[in-house]
Amino acid sequence: MVGKGSQSVKAGGISKVVCLFSILFVALASVMAGCSGPSYPLPDHLGAKIYHGAARGDVKCHRCHGNLGEGGRGPMLTHAAKTLSPEDFIKVVLDGRNNMPPFRSALTEAEVLAIMDWLKKIPSG
Ligand code: HEC
Repeated sequence: MVGKGSQSVKAGGISKVVCLFSILFVALASVMAGCSGPSYPLPDHLGAKIYHGAARGDVKCHRCHGNLGEGGRGPMLTHAAKTLSPEDFIKVVLDGRNNMPPFRSALTEAEVLAIMDWLKKIPSG
């Protein structure tokens, strides 16, 4: 009885080790997948998906503001995301301004905040 008991404890120990290794493997695999993925930071960030039109086909901020918010037809956004208040940022995006089209019918405030959060995490600017 005692022998059997200690055997099953051993078996449990081994499966814990196996389990730990598979967690490490999955972590390593996802890090490697990240390296070969899209070239913008945090591609899984909701804000990045919306910004690039992956979450909403009709929203393509990158066409005017660059893949990394570095600017193009529109101004650089990485800096704006760090300096504008969330209220001002939301207002420009939802209402538009000069050549910036309004996105009120396409985006919610929460989605605009997600974009702003992602832009803030881009180191440049
Ligand atoms: C058709 C091109 C175009 C698209 C698409 C576009 N923008 Fe713009 N954006 C502009 C232009 C041009 C300006 C400058 C507006 C001005 O001169 O007042 C601007 C300004 C802004 C500003 C204000 C920046 C500042 O420094 O005050 C923010 C924030 C912004 N855009 C965010 C976005 C986001 C987020 C999206 C996607 C939902 C987006 N834009 C899509 C052209 C665009």
